[in-house]
Amino acid sequence: MKGEAEKIISKAREEDRDFLLEPEAKRLCALYGLPVTRFEVAKSEDEAVEAARRIGFPIVLKVISPQVLHKSDVGGVILNLKDEEGVREAYRRIHENVKAKVPGAVIEGILVQEMAPSSTEVIVGAIKDPTFGPTIMFGLGGIFVEILRDVSFRLVPIERVDAEEMIGEIKAYKILEGARGMPKADKEALIEILLKTSEMLMDIPEIKELDLNPIMVYEKGAKIVDARVILEGAKG
Ligand SMILES: Nc1ncnc2c1ncn2[C@@H]1O[C@H](COP(=O)(O)OP(=O)(O)O)[C@@H](O)[C@H]1O
Ligand SMILES: [Mg+2]
Repeated sequence: MKGEAEKIISKAREEDRDFLLEPEAKRLCALYGLPVTRFEVAKSEDEAVEAARRIGFPIVLKVISPQVLHKSDVGGVILNLKDEEGVREAYRRIHENVKAKVPGAVIEGILVQEMAPSSTEVIVGAIKDPTFGPTIMFGLGGIFVEILRDVSFRLVPIERVDAEEMIGEIKAYKILEGARGMPKADKEALIEILLKTSEMLMDIPEIKELDLNPIMVYEKGAKIVDARVILEGAKG
């Protein structure tokens, strides 16, 4: 495993967490060359504004808290902030929202990140099959995965042909091809994401579950907007 990856995981262990916070999960993904949104962690309103200026508007702010796994459920995600005043206001609003909805939540910071333009949303996930080991999943985001369960699976490691098949075999594949006026998806970018995710899963057996959801896919390129990692529990 890469040294940097080990550090991210041991920090979570030291803090008695069996999951990674979004900035940790995204850092891990970035180590394997996965295209995550640009982001910085801010500990004050001024830091959030400085980070936003470096990253460039529009900006998204999100809560970073070990007590908050589903950030938007508690008003912990504010999208499309267009200027400094918007960032300041959202910074305060997220603190208020989270304190009201999750009493006692420790807010470790605010994640400042680039706003990815909306597009077709796909997801890449991973779970461990008790018998066969790590499995990688691909599907379209939203109702396609939640209601229709239109997803494809493979055991890892996968090769390029497997990645191509995974993408091609979902029922909604035509949407990625640009059906009904949807933007044609950059299939090569998706193949790269699947291959790099497979590499990361092979390299880090501590990953119990992974959820890259959503990934915005464009005619050129793709962007991972949210990343969640659940770690294996302590052994023995
Ligand atoms: N950087 C971003 N750019 C564009 N949209 C975003 C970004 N981050 C989040 N979103 C949108 O907000 C939704 C909720 O944010 P997310 O980080 O996924 O929070 P949650 O913890 O609730 O899953 C996402 O599903 C996506 O539609
Ligand atoms: Mg999410």
